[in-house]
Amino acid sequence: MCGIIAYTGKQQAAPILTAGLKQLEYRGYDSAGITVSSRKRLRTWKSAGKLTALQNQLPDSINSNCGIGHTRWATHGAPTDQNAHPHLDQNQTISLVHNGIIENIDTLRKSALEAGATLVSETDTEVLVQLLAIAIKKHSLTLLQALRQLLKQGVIGTYGIAAISFDQPDTIVLARSGSPVIIGVGDGEMLAASDLSALSRHTREVVHLDDGELAELTPAGFEVTTMEAHRTDKTPMMVDGNPDQYDKGGHTHYLYREIFDQPKTLARTLSGRLDTRFNTTKLGGLNLQPSDLLKLKRVKILGCGSALYAGLAGANMIENLSRIPADAEAAAEFRYRNPIIEPETLYIALSQSGETFDTLAAIREIQRKGGFVLGIVNSVGSTIAREVNGGIYMHAGPEVSVASTKAYTSMLGVLALLAILLGRTRDISPQRGAQLLQELDSVPGKISAVLTEEPQIKAIAETYSHAHSAFFVGRTTAYPVALEGAQKLKEISYIHAEAYPASELKHGPLALVTAETPCIIVLPESDLLAKSVGSLEEIKARGAPVIAITDSDNKRISQLADHVIRTPPADPLVQGLIMGVALQLFAYHSAVTLGRDVDQPRNLAKSVTVE
Ligand code: G6P
Repeated sequence: MCGIIAYTGKQQAAPILTAGLKQLEYRGYDSAGITVSSRKRLRTWKSAGKLTALQNQLPDSINSNCGIGHTRWATHGAPTDQNAHPHLDQNQTISLVHNGIIENIDTLRKSALEAGATLVSETDTEVLVQLLAIAIKKHSLTLLQALRQLLKQGVIGTYGIAAISFDQPDTIVLARSGSPVIIGVGDGEMLAASDLSALSRHTREVVHLDDGELAELTPAGFEVTTMEAHRTDKTPMMVDGNPDQYDKGGHTHYLYREIFDQPKTLARTLSGRLDTRFNTTKLGGLNLQPSDLLKLKRVKILGCGSALYAGLAGANMIENLSRIPADAEAAAEFRYRNPIIEPETLYIALSQSGETFDTLAAIREIQRKGGFVLGIVNSVGSTIAREVNGGIYMHAGPEVSVASTKAYTSMLGVLALLAILLGRTRDISPQRGAQLLQELDSVPGKISAVLTEEPQIKAIAETYSHAHSAFFVGRTTAYPVALEGAQKLKEISYIHAEAYPASELKHGPLALVTAETPCIIVLPESDLLAKSVGSLEEIKARGAPVIAITDSDNKRISQLADHVIRTPPADPLVQGLIMGVALQLFAYHSAVTLGRDVDQPRNLAKSVTVE
């Protein structure tokens, strides 16, 4: 979704702003722009479309040491040049970029118009900047004072804001409510961004603004204050700033790199967490004692998109190993159905970005009712990571491509670690614990083995890339794998894909199964294999091409399926981590064959920070 970058310091601002916007591209956007302050005036360039359209407009050299930039994902108003950020007041004295949505915009628009503003865009952001300029003029305020007054008195909604004014040419003002803003601390220079990726080439020292905070940056430093103008003395934290993590690593797409990085990233997720002495796992930041784990009566996992599907798989693992009832639910639905919050339920929020609005809102609703939330998050220092009661980081490193792959696998890795811990506290024997640790430890190597199957998977994807619709089926532990496989295919190739438990086929979807609908069946070796093979028979009887993903040597599978993708044998509990990778490759090669924008699929954003 929208991205913010801001710079003030000794270097030329424009190249830093455009490079920052480039880093933010992955979040998804449909227009981009920058404003710089130079010799008591503000100069702005903005354009609908990709960043190159903006770059083509920029003069060769722009002399300025301070500015703001933005990538916009249209909400209020179409993706046009006019609606692109930054927005300026009619006298071009202030420029502002904004992520989020202002809810009481109609009232604010009315006040701006009554005060004589002429609005040229359809955005909520322009209204804010006009109101700021009016207040500054009327009450002789600084930009920070005016912004604080406006936000405190009149604005309802979510925002991450960066603004500059022509008469404070080296000052950037920031504010946050519900949409991330991170300050990057440099030597004689300061930056701000909505995402760490845009700061990674400049500094590792960062300060996360909290909701209700504002900040003023000058090249000499920063000051964070509250809405009541009290200083909050925040100390910068150090983050893992290796900028190479944001590269494609020589590949055409980030997605490809991220799929192939998984043996390494999952190994990092597991590293130091397997406790072979007690045949259990060690998870540092839980904030829960064994006695707390013993009291649990239920586990409820919340997330959105791929995180929800990882949650469904995790709930299976947890229930299976700990015998605690566990389920997963879409965070937004949970939040709005006035859920019963129980003291002996462990609520788990899953999020790669740690910024997904719906997940965050669900967490706040649980905490407001007194519940305990454990966060499983990838992005270090993100809002969810900071707000939860206990946390486990995934350590998958930055994920850039919009569709989740390595973070999804690491989510499953963390959930498996947690399931073993809960299981060993409650139900499973040391022997089974030891066996599970070995199984988990061997998953990165088995993923590497699946990656060597790429040529076969690519050929299958090419064969069926003309399909308009595909079905993914699996039972129990294989069903969430099917869900995520269908999700990947539809996200990046735009082929309509649906996932069903194999047992449900005959209750409806079989009506749609024909020779034109490839069916991908996930068949881990398990007690249910024979029944799943029965579903395979049903599909084949309707003439559909079948792609089976299996670690079983069951003869019937090779007789019936048109293609068999073999994965290394593994415990069904962790097989999802391995088979999921084959489905990622299938989606990737389908998308590439169809010439899709693999890393930034249409209409989708990496981090959905609005409702
Ligand atoms: C967006 C992304 C998905 C992601 C979902 C949840 O929809 O496009 O890939 O799974 O958000 O994101 P989170 O950062 O909370 O895991």
